[in-house]
Amino acid sequence: MTGPARTALVTGANRGLGLAVATELARRGHRVLFAARDGAAAGRAAPDAVRAAAAGQPVDILVNNAGVLSDWGTAPSAADLDGVRHSLEVNLLGAWRVTQAFLPGMVERGWGRVVNISSGAASFAYGPSPQCPGYTASKVALNALTTMLAEEVKGTGVLVNAINPGLVRTRMQPQAEQAPEEAARHIADAATLADDGPSGVFLRRDTVIDW
Ligand SMILES: NC(=O)c1ccc[n+]([C@@H]2O[C@H](COP(=O)([O-])OP(=O)(O)OC[C@H]3O[C@@H](n4cnc5c(N)ncnc54)[C@H](OP(=O)(O)O)[C@@H]3O)[C@@H](O)[C@H]2O)c1
Repeated sequence: MTGPARTALVTGANRGLGLAVATELARRGHRVLFAARDGAAAGRAAPDAVRAAAAGQPVDILVNNAGVLSDWGTAPSAADLDGVRHSLEVNLLGAWRVTQAFLPGMVERGWGRVVNISSGAASFAYGPSPQCPGYTASKVALNALTTMLAEEVKGTGVLVNAINPGLVRTRMQPQAEQAPEEAARHIADAATLADDGPSGVFLRRDTVIDW
C-alpha cells in the first residue's frame, strides 16, 4: 500500500462489483465499511449502515457502487417513467445522498476520494445507450454530478471521479467475461489516487477517457 491506511465505505458491498471492491480495498490495508441495504429499505440507497457510519465514523474513501439496471430492451419512447424514476432514485439520488453524508467531513479533514461507478452506457463519446433509457439517463446524470462535486471541492484535497468499469460478470451482467476482481483493482486505484491525481474525470482502467 502506498500512503496511510484509510477508512473506506463501499455501497452495495454485499455482492458483485461492490463486494470485490470492498475486498480489494481491505486487501490493500484499508478499513472498509461494507454497506448494504436491508429488505425494508428497498428503493433507498442510503441504508441504515450509512446513516450509522455518518453519525460516528469519518470516511475517507467513498465508492458509490449500489445500482440497478431494470429497463434493458426498452425504447426511450416507450419507457415506463416510474421505472425511470426508480433508476434515478437508486443510481443518481442514492449516490448523491450518501455523498452528502460524507463529503463535508472529507473537505474538513483535507483529504478524500469519491468514486462513482458509472457505465459505458452513459458515454456521450460513444453515444448514450438507448437500450436501457432509465439506466443510461441515471448514469449520465451521475457523471454530471461527478463534475459538479469535483468543481465544488477543487483544491480541498478531495478528488471526485466517475469510472466506467466495462462489462463485469455479476448478477447484472452474468455473461460478461471480465471478473469482478479485475474491475475492482482499477476501481480501488481510482479510490486511492495520489494527491496530484485527476478530479472531475471519467476513468476506464486507470486512464482518463472522454465523457
Ligand atoms: N456489471 C456490469 O457489467 C456493470 C457495468 C457498468 C456499470 N456497472 C455498475 O456497477 C455497479 C455494481 O453493479 P453489479 O454489476 O455489481 O450489479 P449487482 O450484482 O446487481 O449488484 C448491485 C448492488 O447494488 C445494490 N442495490 C440495487 N438496488 C439497490 C437499492 N434500491 N438500494 C440499495 N442498494 C441497491 C444491490 O443490493 P441487493 O443485493 O440487495 O440487490 C447490490 O449490492 C452498479 O452501479 C452498476 O450500474 C456494472
